[in-house]
Amino acid sequence: MADRHRTMTASEAEAYYDRFGKKQDSQGFYEDPALNAVIAHANFENAERIFEFGCGTGKVAARLLSEHLPAAATYFGCDVSPVMVGLAAQRLKKYSNRAKVLQTDGTVYFPLPDHSTDRVISSYVLDLLSEEDIRTFFAEAHRVLVPGGRICLASLTKGATLLSRIVSSVWMAAFRIRPAIVGGCRPVLMDNYIDWDRWKREHRNIVTPFGVPSEVLVLIAKGRH
Ligand SMILES: C[S@@+](CC[C@H](N)C(=O)[O-])C[C@H]1O[C@@H](n2cnc3c(N)ncnc32)[C@H](O)[C@@H]1O
Repeated sequence: MADRHRTMTASEAEAYYDRFGKKQDSQGFYEDPALNAVIAHANFENAERIFEFGCGTGKVAARLLSEHLPAAATYFGCDVSPVMVGLAAQRLKKYSNRAKVLQTDGTVYFPLPDHSTDRVISSYVLDLLSEEDIRTFFAEAHRVLVPGGRICLASLTKGATLLSRIVSSVWMAAFRIRPAIVGGCRPVLMDNYIDWDRWKREHRNIVTPFGVPSEVLVLIAKGRH
């Protein structure tokens, strides 16, 4: 089903997340169960090079670097918000020999060579991009991943249970009034954007803490035909 609602522009997202800053970490009540599931299924213990799109405060990166990644693995995160980039850089200071963070102009372009990384991660970012940008995100992820590399995603999605259907309808109604009421995010169905000639599904599940539904998706990049 197409999703043609007006989303935030990159500069609106930048302004919003510059203001939101550290408050992003208070969203863990619904984000953390999805992140736990991503981590359980993405085999970070054998990863070498991680790229994160929309790193926010660096919360996910810090967790991966301290608990899951091998000591030699490198992390590269980007975000459109200079405030978020500053918070992430501060948080990841002790990993400065293998972690870096870059501020972008919001274009969905990954500043990496082709086939140069083995994990692309993004949590609660695709749900604020336009449909066109979500498609570009998957194309960019496929370009930078080595064959067999994984894309690891957590995003708001539509509810499947009565409570979560009510929550996502209310959320969507707020988004339609003004995207900023809900941080620019709306429930999305990732299936609408995936080219299955390029991706193999490794894991998918939906978690609904406090009735807020999130889709957890780990896909493996297929090689070129
Ligand atoms: C809801 S927050 C999620 C942050 C983090 N991934 C997490 O899970 O805590 C969305 C983040 O995406 C960033 N963002 C939004 N649009 C972006 C774009 N076009 N390019 C890069 N970052 C973007 C925002 O600045 C913000 O840090």
